[in-house]
Amino acid sequence: MNDIMIKTERLTKTYRRYRKKEGVLGSIASLWKRDYEEKIAVNQIDLSVGRGEFVGMIGPNGAGKTTLIKMLTGIIAPTEGDIDVMGYYPNDLKNEFKKQYAVVMGQKSQLFFELTVNDTLHLFKEIYEIPEDAFQKNKSYFTELFDVRELMDVQVRTLSLGERMKMELMVSLIHNPKILFLDEPTIGLDAVASMQIRSFLKIINEENGTAILLTSHYMEDIRTLCKRTVVINRGVKIYDGATDGLFEGYQKNKRIAVTFALPVGNLDIKTPTAVLMENTPYKKIYKVSKQSANILLAELMGHGPKDIVTEEEEIGTIVERIYQEGGGCLGKIS
Ligand SMILES: Nc1ncnc2c1ncn2[C@@H]1O[C@H](COP(=O)(O)OP(=O)(O)OP(=O)(O)O)[C@@H](O)[C@H]1O
Ligand SMILES: [Mg+2]
Repeated sequence: MNDIMIKTERLTKTYRRYRKKEGVLGSIASLWKRDYEEKIAVNQIDLSVGRGEFVGMIGPNGAGKTTLIKMLTGIIAPTEGDIDVMGYYPNDLKNEFKKQYAVVMGQKSQLFFELTVNDTLHLFKEIYEIPEDAFQKNKSYFTELFDVRELMDVQVRTLSLGERMKMELMVSLIHNPKILFLDEPTIGLDAVASMQIRSFLKIINEENGTAILLTSHYMEDIRTLCKRTVVINRGVKIYDGATDGLFEGYQKNKRIAVTFALPVGNLDIKTPTAVLMENTPYKKIYKVSKQSANILLAELMGHGPKDIVTEEEEIGTIVERIYQEGGGCLGKIS
């Protein structure tokens, strides 16, 4: 059995975008001569994902993550390079291929807003030709897992964002896909809802062996779920290796936000490396080196805070550092 689920070589997508000159005259001029700009959204990416792997994909806005997922799922065709997903060329959109993967995009729903989730599931049962017993088994498994029994018969458009995301996952998993592509599944969700989604994804990956490729702007998603992370910047893969290695090697600082129930003046903070980034009576934000984060946390606790939140550094900062420091011994840099 072939254990490589996804393989791309020099995969490239160049978009051609029409550029209109300014104003009415520009519009008229462009009737005769159109100016196009070419944009290399994905540039020579080699990627290989094995059976049951859980791979994170991060990169700044416009890096090419969604474009890569669109090529892997056949929504768009590559401009150059080779692509093989479970033995198929995705853009052929063969039915046999479509039955074996699922894609969930946080910003784009695949649900029918006027239907109930139950109806939608039945529709997908027909589309994917799922046998009755497998369908019932999966339906009760996910209803239980996501704890959504009372939501099965309400119209999708009445669901909250967090509830809808559970339903998106349920609908996309009902046919037992071997690969699940997730493009920002936790976007806009609050802390509790994202944590729930993360725990479902972990179960789906571990119990069902579903390979998952996940993009997210939330480092927390990547850190808690993905053993391996791919970093993309301007269409180019700049890191592919252990998630731990990425954070250990390139993350130097943490951000700690502390809030107070009553207004507080300047705090006399002694923790080394702590830099005050934002100072208001009810909230202070500090940047602190990773090593000193716990010291700062303890020091802040002494000031009787209402809440303290530790955040990972933003992806942009990590990307910059990869460039500054090079790949070195960490991961496979290409
Ligand atoms: N249909 C299109 N036509 C022309 N250019 C496009 C098209 N879709 C995307 N692009 C461009 O390709 C680049 C990559 O876009 P893509 O959506 O893949 O980025 P992304 O990594 O998913 O970003 P984000 O984190 O913001 O979702 C961007 O510069 C974008 O402007
Ligand atoms: Mg995107």
